[in-house]
Amino acid sequence: MKVGVVGVTGRVGTVLVELLSESGEHSMVGGISGNSRPQELERMVQNSDVLIDFSVPAATLRVAEVADRHRKPLVTGTSLSEDDLGRLTSSCRSIPLLHSCNFSIPIHLMASFLRKCAKILPDFDFSVVEKHHSRKKDAPSSTALFLADQVGPKSQIVSVRSGGLCGDHICDFIGEDEMLTISHRALNRRLFASGALRCARWIIGKSPKLYSLEDFLEDEVNCHG
Ligand SMILES: NC(=O)c1ccc[n+]([C@@H]2O[C@H](COP(=O)([O-])OP(=O)(O)OC[C@H]3O[C@@H](n4cnc5c(N)ncnc54)[C@H](OP(=O)(O)O)[C@@H]3O)[C@@H](O)[C@H]2O)c1
Repeated sequence: MKVGVVGVTGRVGTVLVELLSESGEHSMVGGISGNSRPQELERMVQNSDVLIDFSVPAATLRVAEVADRHRKPLVTGTSLSEDDLGRLTSSCRSIPLLHSCNFSIPIHLMASFLRKCAKILPDFDFSVVEKHHSRKKDAPSSTALFLADQVGPKSQIVSVRSGGLCGDHICDFIGEDEMLTISHRALNRRLFASGALRCARWIIGKSPKLYSLEDFLEDEVNCHG
């Protein structure tokens, strides 16, 4: 699989480059960053089987237009607002596109458990404390918003930006007499890059539409029993 990397100099992008160089089956055919020229983007997209993007929303939207024109699938993990996600979806009419706020599989298992808890514990208050490195641009994290969304509009979110943390999400259901805590910690960024790579392999050949990580997981479960 020939991969084009958007955000190649970034924290996640550099780990993705390492994974691709270690891999015997995939190769990187190009990478772009904030300093790249439009011609470099065109050339990379033309030469790729699939694009993986961890960058900034403006770059994601530009790459999506070029990917759509060249009919190349796109997997993106860039944190996007609802508006940007809407713009992204409407500019990708001809390609399969997968966006996920978090490429950790345990985070998505946690989300499904939160939905179950919310049904069974309707009288409990729910909060998410998310902690990330001090240079993270968005707050609250897209993952915290996604987790809160599983429970409902009364969820509270607290954001902490400190040091070099890769990403902690601590979810609490708090009642009058007891409290349930479910938490996830990203120990490094390899999990994000490898999750995106697995999704990239999966998305090639799919019909044009917006896919989620849940679509990928559903197929994986069906394939492996
Ligand atoms: N979905 C997930 O699992 C997951 C996990 C972690 C992070 N994220 C998200 O992924 C995104 C990237 O995170 P990060 O920590 O790797 O960020 P980062 O270290 O700030 O890297 C951002 C990358 O985007 C590039 N970039 C900036 N403007 C660009 C442009 N106009 N065109 C092309 N590339 C451009 C930067 O290039 P320069 O070096 O030239 O500035 C850099 O390579 C963020 O939105 C973050 O929230 C998602």
